[in-house]
Amino acid sequence: MGKVVVITGASSGLGEEFAYQLAEQGASLLLIARRSSKLQSIAQQIMTKYAHVKVYVLVLDLSVDDASEHVLNYIETHQLSLQGLINNAGFGARGYFESLELTLQQQMLQVNIHILMSLTHCLIAQLKSQENAFIINVASTAAFQAGPNLAVYYASKAFVLSFSQALYEELKGDIKISALCPGATRTEFADIAGMSDLLLFKLRVMKKEDVVRYALKYRHKAIVIPGLMNKIGASLAQILPASWVRKIAFQIQK
Ligand SMILES: NC(=O)c1ccc[n+]([C@@H]2O[C@H](COP(=O)([O-])OP(=O)(O)OC[C@H]3O[C@@H](n4cnc5c(N)ncnc54)[C@H](OP(=O)(O)O)[C@@H]3O)[C@@H](O)[C@H]2O)c1
Repeated sequence: MGKVVVITGASSGLGEEFAYQLAEQGASLLLIARRSSKLQSIAQQIMTKYAHVKVYVLVLDLSVDDASEHVLNYIETHQLSLQGLINNAGFGARGYFESLELTLQQQMLQVNIHILMSLTHCLIAQLKSQENAFIINVASTAAFQAGPNLAVYYASKAFVLSFSQALYEELKGDIKISALCPGATRTEFADIAGMSDLLLFKLRVMKKEDVVRYALKYRHKAIVIPGLMNKIGASLAQILPASWVRKIAFQIQK
């Protein structure tokens, strides 16, 4: 059995695609999300196709306070030897900060930031002891700027980008760690965030297969931005005056 890669948010979208592509490369997997039937069906498909790949499933709401302890307990109980961690689970919610439920935005911080940070902390020691260990933290092109009408989501992704870059330096030589910064990608994300009607998601959407292939290929880099238009957008966000960038983002996302 190959060493195990932990994937959060593996029941759909990018997380599901990470599972398929890593299984093809021979990795065993621990898939985590809330929807049991989706996780079970992905695990079954993979194990049917790749007899040497073992897929573990942990059904868990990552917004609960002690979620990282559940993950750690599962890994210890099943004596899993880890190769990688993909902190992918996340969601957004479109709307003015004051009109969105506070509890929803607190949950967003739990899933987009707190579990990513605490899982990384819990698993770093084990990953350090493996050769070629890696962590991919899924940020977004949103990480490079403020996002009016999606204020907490954008701020959460700025945390992921900053945190991952800092760890890239701290862990050099021990673990490869990258911040994956996709732009609009066809998954369930836009529907859940209330963004499907935006031009951004109608015109410039990448396929999740391409995003994941790129993310795995360049996982040794600190910042990974798939797609030329996304690279240009992220660069402009850092070059142009912040007042322009946030006004443009507001117009696009209103
Ligand atoms: N798609 C895009 O345009 C885009 C662009 C930039 C960045 N991203 C980022 O990419 C990552 C993956 O999103 P996606 O596009 O693949 O969207 P998706 O299809 O909606 O997938 C999100 C995943 O996160 C899981 N998740 C959400 N809340 C959870 C919770 N409380 N506990 C456990 N799992 C939870 C979901 O599983 P369950 O519902 O089964 O729990 C699902 O597997 C996110 O971090 C997102 O911010 C996406």
